[in-house]
Amino acid sequence: MIPPLRNDRFLRALNRQPVDQTPVWMMRQAGRYLPEYRMTRSQAGDFMSLCKNPQLACEVTMQPLERYPLDAAILFSDILTIPDAMECGLYFEAGEGPRFQRPVRTSADIDALPIPPMAEALDYVMSAIKTIRAELNGKVPLIGFSGSPWTLATYMIEGCGSKEYRYAKGLMYSDPIALHVLLEKLTMAVTDYLNAQIDAGAQAVQIFDTWGGVLTEPAYREFSLAYMAKVISGLKRECGGQKVPVILFTKGGGGWLEAMADTGCDALGLDWTVDLGACRRRVGNRVALQGNLDPSVLFGSDKQVILEVGRLLQSFGAHPGHVFNLGHGINQFVDPDRPATMIKAVQQISREIHAGS
Ligand code: CP3
Repeated sequence: MIPPLRNDRFLRALNRQPVDQTPVWMMRQAGRYLPEYRMTRSQAGDFMSLCKNPQLACEVTMQPLERYPLDAAILFSDILTIPDAMECGLYFEAGEGPRFQRPVRTSADIDALPIPPMAEALDYVMSAIKTIRAELNGKVPLIGFSGSPWTLATYMIEGCGSKEYRYAKGLMYSDPIALHVLLEKLTMAVTDYLNAQIDAGAQAVQIFDTWGGVLTEPAYREFSLAYMAKVISGLKRECGGQKVPVILFTKGGGGWLEAMADTGCDALGLDWTVDLGACRRRVGNRVALQGNLDPSVLFGSDKQVILEVGRLLQSFGAHPGHVFNLGHGINQFVDPDRPATMIKAVQQISREIHAGS
């Protein structure tokens, strides 16, 4: 039996309940900026072999928690496991990011895509979750995640990362019905995948809509937001008597927070381009907010890091419902001492703010 949580600050903040100090975790907290991660990855051989080995995935998930007093762990995996399970042939070219052997470009490609049951097709992810929960032993909650249907579609259509989305946005404007068919399929896959993660032991889930922000507002609503709302409405929001909160992160979504809050999610992830206090005033107490330190602040001095952390915490104020995070993933060239400074500052400064409230 897994014991009850010893640190529930993260879940309390997502549920907008008072906390003694603001909980903190970092997107991409397990990754290349940590020398111990690079060691384990070379032991695994490559990135996907690391993802597919539950024991090693557990080891790298735990590494940042051993270094820093973080309030949550995030499953070590990748958003591209779903298109991999849909037989697009994922591989990583050294230094070039993800690639697919079989990009999805036409209606025929889309119709041919299989949607296997994710608990089976991605059983290595479910095993990793169970292994991590046992290893955490109630220390902090475990976050599961998925890419949004639109974000997964961009990689599947382009066949790799992109700056312009020539093919994905091209399909959107030339054959929107075909894109809708693909997004429907991905919505089924994402819903099934997140529910399988919740069954396996994920205590909160985050939807990464990394590329929602490249769309126009009407296109965002039609091709990204609507499908995320459908995913959320299909999720089991509870596991073992505990509520499982959902965090929605659209990078570049600062203009659309009110609409995002209407999806039924519990929290919105914010990138660094928006003012945290202004965002809180916009959504009020409807959802919690997660974010949003510019990841590049970690290239500054300790003094600057402390100053920026203080500014962010002050701008949110003493209200409940804030999870401290970076506005996007931590950069691989960050010195691992900087996050230590950041986390200590979050704890010290937020304790004073919460004590004064
Ligand atoms: O946050 C965590 O610590 C959990 C692990 C995690 C990874 N990827 C590990 C990873 C998570 C949550 C992701 C999500 C992910 N993957 C996203 C959405 C988040 C975001 O950044 O907005 C996206 C777009 C991907 C797709 C992906 N995977 C890309 C574009 C790359 C290459 C990135 C790069 O900088 O080269 C990956 C690889 C990847 N995923 C790495 C890690 C630690 C680096 C791989 C390596 O070890 O070489």
